[in-house]
This record gives sequence, structure tokens and C-alpha cells, in this order.
Amino acid sequence: MTKPAEMQKASSSWRKKGLTVALVPTMGALHMGHAALIRRAAKIADRVVVSAYVNPTQFNSRGDFEKYPKRTLADMKLAAQAGTDVLFRPRNLYASDASTWVEETVLSKGRCGARRPGHFRGVATVVVKLLGIVQPDLAIFGEKDRQQCEMVERVVRDLYLSVRILRHPTVRERDGLPMSSRNLRLNPAQRELAGKWATAVRLAARKGPRKAPSFLRNLLRKVGGIRLEYAEVAGRQFCAAAWIGKIRLIDHRPFGGRA
Ligand code: PAJ
Repeated sequence: MTKPAEMQKASSSWRKKGLTVALVPTMGALHMGHAALIRRAAKIADRVVVSAYVNPTQFNSRGDFEKYPKRTLADMKLAAQAGTDVLFRPRNLYASDASTWVEETVLSKGRCGARRPGHFRGVATVVVKLLGIVQPDLAIFGEKDRQQCEMVERVVRDLYLSVRILRHPTVRERDGLPMSSRNLRLNPAQRELAGKWATAVRLAARKGPRKAPSFLRNLLRKVGGIRLEYAEVAGRQFCAAAWIGKIRLIDHRPFGGRA
């Protein structure tokens, strides 16, 4: 399904029949992390909508937007297997004269927000559009993008949107790297480094909030090839972002976790 009006119609006819609707917003290039969210949605709700839309307004560079992986057939297969009823793939959600934005002004400012100007405004805006189209009872977001979860919850609260937001834990590869569509762009050597990055974040978090940032910086200096963007404490979480070549990776771990 690609047309917002059709999607809106399908969803309202479900709700008229008393069926509950869950939305899992994605940008496509689905992997097992997305699948976990979809399976969770299918367990809780009667109907599951997965949106797959590469939202142009949340990218900081044209290059990153254009290089974002697109895998329509594989997405359809994975979505169906995980329990999706409708894969909603809108072509464009911005009228050429669109002039409305949703901006959360506190939780979206630090960490990734400080390094990606406009990113969270793009996310908040498209999420509110998707909620308006699908009008789900609940929507599921992954903790992999923790700041995104925090911000979406705040937007929904502040705007009195009648949807329940659920968080799903981060799904990781065997070596601890959070699954991500962007991982597809890592070459084998970079992929190996990415595993070391994930281990370094985990080990650093064990050192506690005071020591974690410098411990991570030192570890990465030894490994080489990974450019740390930030290492910050946010509540009880150690949050960090880094670059391997042109690929940006984010991760977070609770302090004092097991190694
Ligand atoms: P995307 O990166 O495709 O992620 C879609 C959803 O899947 C997000 O809620 C994200 O946190 C979750 N997710 C991705 N990888 C995960 C993993 N390894 N474990 C658990 N959850 C994971 O996030 C976006 O798209 C966009 O910003 C979006 C919310 C769709 C707005 O455009």
C-alpha cells in the first residue's frame, strides 16, 4: 500500500470493527531488529502496520539519504513473515508547499541532536504524520535509538496524541553490534571494527559514569580506525556515537552491566 488516504481508510475500518492496530515505523531495509518489533506488535494487536519510508527531512546529508539501502522485495518478505498485515510504503509525505513541523525542544538537543541539526525535527514531524495516517492504538520503537524513543514519548505526551508508545530492547548481532540498516554499508574490515566498537562501549559502561567516557576514548585509540563522536552519560545509560569511514554508529549500555 502506498497511498495515505487508502491507509487511513483501511485503519479506520479495522477500528470500527473493534480491532486494535499497531504501527511499527521504519525506513525499510528491514533486518531482524525490525522483525522483533513487528513480532511484538503482532502479539499485542489485531492488525500490524509497518511503514517503510526513507524520510528525507531527518538526514543531514544528501549523500547519506541517497545511499540509504532500499530492498523492497526482501522487506515485503521479512515483514510478512514477522506478522505484518500492511506494509505501508508512501512515496512522499511532504507536499511541495508543506509548512508544518513538529519540534521537541529539550530531549532532542543533546547527544545525537547536538551533532545532527534538524534530525529530530524531521523524525518528530514524520512520526506525527504517520500516526495521523495510521491512527494506531500503539506504536513500537526500538531502544537502539534511545534518544528517539525519549523524544517520541515526549511529543506524544505534549500533543495529547492518543497512542501508546512501547519500547523494544536493542537487538544485537552475535558480536554485540546493534543491528542496523546502515551496517549493510560496512565492508568486511569495517564490520570487524564495528564489533570492537560495540565491545568497547560495553566494557566502558562497566566502569561507571565517571570513568566510562575516558575509558572508551583510550580503548578506541588503541584499536584505531574508529572516530569517536561523543561519549556521554544520560541518566543511567552510557551513550556513544562513532564513525567508521563514512558510517555512523550509535550505542548505549546501562552502567554497571555484566561484561
Ligand atoms: P529505522 O532506523 O528503520 O528503525 C525503525 C525502528 O526500528 C526504530 O524504532 C528503531 O529504533 C528500531 N530498530 C532498528 N534497529 C534496531 C535494533 N537493532 N534493535 C531494536 N530496534 C531497532 O528509526 C527510524 O527508522 C526512523 O527514525 C523512523 C522512526 C522510522 C522515522 O523516520
